[in-house]
Amino acid sequence: MSSTSSSRVDLRDHVQDQDLSEEYLSSSSRDYSAGSSPLTTPALSDEEFDFDVPSEDALLAPTQAPADGSEKYIMVIGGLGYIGSHTTLELLREGHNVIVVDNLSNSYKTVLKNVRMLAAHHCKVNNVPMPRLRFFRIDYRSKAMHVLLERYSNLVMTVDATSGKQVVSYQSRIAGVIHFAAYKSVVESIQQPLRYYRNNVCGLVNLLQELERFNIRNFIFSSSATVYGSKANAGLPLKEEDLIHHQVKTQNEAGETTIVEPTIEGLSCPYARTKYFGEAILADVAEADPDWRIVALRYFNPVGCDPSGVLGESPRGEPTNLFPVLTQVLKGDRSNLNVFGSDWPTRDGTAIRDFIHVLDVARGHIAALNWNSKKGNGFSTFNLGSGTGTTVLEAVRSLEQAAGREIPLALVDRRPGDVGMCVASTERAAKELGWSTRESITKCAADLWNYVSKVALRS
Ligand code: UD1
Repeated sequence: MSSTSSSRVDLRDHVQDQDLSEEYLSSSSRDYSAGSSPLTTPALSDEEFDFDVPSEDALLAPTQAPADGSEKYIMVIGGLGYIGSHTTLELLREGHNVIVVDNLSNSYKTVLKNVRMLAAHHCKVNNVPMPRLRFFRIDYRSKAMHVLLERYSNLVMTVDATSGKQVVSYQSRIAGVIHFAAYKSVVESIQQPLRYYRNNVCGLVNLLQELERFNIRNFIFSSSATVYGSKANAGLPLKEEDLIHHQVKTQNEAGETTIVEPTIEGLSCPYARTKYFGEAILADVAEADPDWRIVALRYFNPVGCDPSGVLGESPRGEPTNLFPVLTQVLKGDRSNLNVFGSDWPTRDGTAIRDFIHVLDVARGHIAALNWNSKKGNGFSTFNLGSGTGTTVLEAVRSLEQAAGREIPLALVDRRPGDVGMCVASTERAAKELGWSTRESITKCAADLWNYVSKVALRS
């Protein structure tokens, strides 16, 4: 037996037998990002485990349907982060069984409990059964991922159409994968490019190989408007076709063929390049194997939180995005907001962004999953944005209104790598996915303030 297969068996035994106590949970945490690559970590002993969410909230939920081994799941990698947790919640509210994979490197286990509690409440109010929620605290790049995927697979015998021979292959109970687990700080990516490439690019490649092994080819990728690079500065809404990865041939009404070649323009930082490379790799994978159905969702600026005020954005480490920084100012952890640049060619001199409520983003993932299952074909891209541009000052005003207090500002120089304007064209997502935003920036601000006043101010 090879060393790989023996460690696999050891780990599987371990995963099944582990008594998953709270103590165990809090005592084990390894940040793979900081040390050696998990792919070369030889010992797979006590880091990987799973547990059903603590049962205290289960009292709230109606009975779950009994498991018969045929249930389908959506796997959410990075499912306890800011966008991941809201998407997990929406998936549960929509009746999907969910497997969350998260190493808690930028999230907290309390998020899991809160997600379950909100989903259970929703199910109780609507008198529907609570879907299954399974959590695995593992780094998606670790070998434990293989074990996990194996655990949700069945071996099936099929007959190869060409050779007529019987072949054994995996059939997974994971119907689709949403991949959020990536680093996202522009500034950090400039300081630590290899860390970003290792997680966001190498991690993705290894994950795709594992998924292929288990015949899971329905994949939703967290991309970003950052892939449009300096095209954003043209001042026009960004269309998906502004960034393509392979040549596109189109025909006009007169039957003339136009060939559009892929071009990229002004990617501003390593983070942006990781998202670009990620998309390019996915486009190549789908081109090579037509069984893949891959959607890259290009997020604009997700903000706000669930109106319950229980879930929010609570990154570990120093936040750099606008709304988390504003949260810190409201909490009194910072004296003021530094407004980066007041000389942009915009209505008030501050940069324009397309802010979108995180629950709209979450619903965009469900729309993409549904579309991918029915109509997905190769590699597709969709913007998740509102189509409305809001300046930084306007965003600040909306939060001031929600909070009923002034936010102290300092106008400072532009931040390196920033663009002046970044707004989505929303046509493709509306037409193909049947998805558009429901919430306004006012609602984003109100929900954020609700979270800050209920939770963040007390912590
Ligand atoms: C950028 C990327 C986005 C990515 C996100 C992840 C682009 C165009 N966008 O978003 O794709 O998903 O990072 O981190 O590259 N601001 C301040 N003061 C602050 C913080 C921010 O004035 O303390 C300003 C910024 O200069 C910017 C706006 O607020 O004009 C939004 O900034 P931020 O929230 O960091 O997001 P983006 O830079 O737009």
